[in-house]
Amino acid sequence: MQTALVLNGPNLNLLGSREPAVYGAQTLADVEALCRAACAAHGFALDFRQSNHEGVLVDWIHEAGRALAAGTLAGVILNAGAYTHTSVALHDAIKGTGVAVIELHISNVHAREPFRHHSYISPVARGVIAGFGVAGYALAIAALAEPRP
Ligand code: DQA
Repeated sequence: MQTALVLNGPNLNLLGSREPAVYGAQTLADVEALCRAACAAHGFALDFRQSNHEGVLVDWIHEAGRALAAGTLAGVILNAGAYTHTSVALHDAIKGTGVAVIELHISNVHAREPFRHHSYISPVARGVIAGFGVAGYALAIAALAEPRP
């Protein structure tokens, strides 16, 4: 069974209490449960993680690259949080490992402040899901199950 690796970046541990008008009332534990159900429906194992540290996220992308080489990775779903808009290091890690990444945002970043409109992840992502609340995580897992165009 292949693994869907769901990586969450900075401040996503605060889901539920952080700006609920933007991000909703569900906690990160709720999101993990939602992802577990979606993975079960699509025949994936789930590996669900969160870190507030850019380098840790880079290390996890490298780990995903090794899983890709071993044939055990279905793909990565990455909500890089604010690092989306700043991190050349995450861009380079995705490019350097060749892992299939689905960029995910709970909010519609394009309808928010201009500094959220640029993403360093999008040019190296397989696709982008934004604006569907935490339901976007299940949509991303379903997308991983689709054959590549
Ligand atoms: C976010 C959007 C980012 O701009 C923000 O910095 C986040 C969360 C989202 O899921 O909507 O931390 O990635």
